Amino acid sequence: MNTITIIGGGNLGKSIISGLVNSDLFEATDITVVDKSKYNLKEVEEKLGVSTSQHIIASIKNAKWVILCVQPRQLDAVLQEIKDTVTADQILISTVTGTSIAEINAVVPNNKVVRVMPNTGAAKKLSMTCIAANEDVKEELTTVQKMFDTIGKTLIIEERLMQAATVLGASGIAFFLRFLRAMIQGGIQMGFHPHEAQIIAVQTAIGAATLVAENGTHPEREIDKVTTPQGCTIEGLNEMEHQGLSSSVIKGVMASYEKINTIK
Ligand SMILES: NC(=O)c1ccc[n+]([C@@H]2O[C@H](COP(=O)([O-])OP(=O)(O)OC[C@H]3O[C@@H](n4cnc5c(N)ncnc54)[C@H](OP(=O)(O)O)[C@@H]3O)[C@@H](O)[C@H]2O)c1
Repeated sequence: MNTITIIGGGNLGKSIISGLVNSDLFEATDITVVDKSKYNLKEVEEKLGVSTSQHIIASIKNAKWVILCVQPRQLDAVLQEIKDTVTADQILISTVTGTSIAEINAVVPNNKVVRVMPNTGAAKKLSMTCIAANEDVKEELTTVQKMFDTIGKTLIIEERLMQAATVLGASGIAFFLRFLRAMIQGGIQMGFHPHEAQIIAVQTAIGAATLVAENGTHPEREIDKVTTPQGCTIEGLNEMEHQGLSSSVIKGVMASYEKINTIK
């Protein structure tokens, strides 16, 4: 599998490194992390045993895989810095939101590029990572999928759906957490202490998601199982719908999608 260099050892970079180090795909010694921040580098070196550097050029020279893990506004500077050094056999993996394969290839035309969109669940090996590449990138796509399988679940999608994947998967973390917060607030109003309400709501959310994930059922099927006719669950569900729950979630997802398509 050869060596890998990660440019950007921030929030997401650290989660990816942790997954790769703890997998049987790479040894810690195969991985080099480049970051401007000495603090980030010290942390990954001490906790994960990977090599670190503040110099991009020297670090990518022997890498088969180069993961771009910087903020969108920082990507162009990184691409400009590496463009005369990268060789055509090096594969670029971009985590960067909103930058297309074509835009990356406009600066580094000879490299195969794979786009990935993980989420912060990666820190707990529960990421949902959507992956896209051009038609000619087949073997490498399979390897990249194996890499990201180490930090959660993966799905190969068409690149045209990458913005939608960002909203549903990456922003989705925030959407579910806001619903979780509302459940906790309801629990407090009924009489629980905040920490008790949080324990109950969080475990219930894990249970609900796991039922759907492991049973492979539609959510409504699992809802039917807890909805007694004329009972308290249907009363609550219908009131939530009268107040626009599903409609507001769908509208929120679409507002986020419209916004992401305007960000550059
Ligand atoms: N976090 C998520 O949930 C998530 C999910 C999916 C995709 N993404 C995407 O993943 C990318 C990284 O996100 P993140 O949250 O990990 O960002 P982050 O925490 O800001 O990490 C980026 C790191 O890269 C460093 N860096 C920037 N330019 C550099 C350069 N030229 N040389 C060396 N190091 C450099 C930054 O240093 P400085 O801070 O000093 O500039 C920072 O430590 C973003 O494009 C984001 O859109 C993130």
